[in-house]
Amino acid sequence: MAPTPPNQPAFTIRPALPRDIPAITAIYTNAVLHTTASYDLEPPTEDVMAARLATILADDFPYLVAEDSSPPRALSPNSIPGPERNAGSERRVLGYAYATPFRPRPGYRFTVEHSVYVAQDARGRGVGTGLMKELVGECRRKGFRVMVGVVGDVRGDGTGAVRFHRGFGFREAGALKGSGWKFGRVLDTGLWELQLQGGEGKGEGSQVAKEGVSKEE
Ligand SMILES: CC(C)(COP(=O)(O)OP(=O)(O)OC[C@H]1O[C@@H](n2cnc3c(N)ncnc32)[C@H](O)[C@@H]1OP(=O)(O)O)[C@@H](O)C(=O)NCCC(=O)NCCS
Repeated sequence: MAPTPPNQPAFTIRPALPRDIPAITAIYTNAVLHTTASYDLEPPTEDVMAARLATILADDFPYLVAEDSSPPRALSPNSIPGPERNAGSERRVLGYAYATPFRPRPGYRFTVEHSVYVAQDARGRGVGTGLMKELVGECRRKGFRVMVGVVGDVRGDGTGAVRFHRGFGFREAGALKGSGWKFGRVLDTGLWELQLQGGEGKGEGSQVAKEGVSKEE
């Protein structure tokens, strides 16, 4: 998939695979335990994360990872791969992004919600941007019409994510005041929307999007 521009630190965006689950789980666990970006209170197990990946792929929604594409370092006899490294490989997963149905009712079948998470120490070097560009492109190609970002704690941890979404052309659709509660704090949640097919009422959504989520009775 998309190679990194020459002036950026090297990473590659590719579809997620089951072997990425330990790395993905480690990235998400860190966000759950230490930030209000996610409203999960307990980190899901690798089995739960694997089941989510399988469902997303089975429903033909995109799930991508950014993988460090700098030359793999040879494993020294003493090196122990960390949780964000794939078994049998020194290429590290730096972040991931996926899209899921926004809401289950079939009238929403052209609308997706996305999630994007970058490992704490890999932020600020374009990984999130690379993942989102590819994810937005995939969703457009599949005929989805609207992408929704649900941004947690928009007055606290979420301020960076707000700038991130604004930079992509997302429009603020509103905030749900006091809708979250974590670490003993009340949290406001932001809703951000991106029109994928040029705006309301334009285009029709592809057959994939029409048939892929669920069919109207
Ligand atoms: C939001 C997130 C995905 C951004 O990933 P990233 O790899 O750091 O982003 P990039 O390096 O591509 O930065 C892109 C833009 O995002 C904005 N941004 C990202 N993090 C920011 C921060 N902490 N503070 C301010 N702006 C930030 C900046 O505008 C930046 O553009 P700039 O470098 O030209 O100023 C990452 O911070 C993250 O994983 N956050 C926790 C999870 C989350 O909030 N996800 C979004 C909700 S779905």
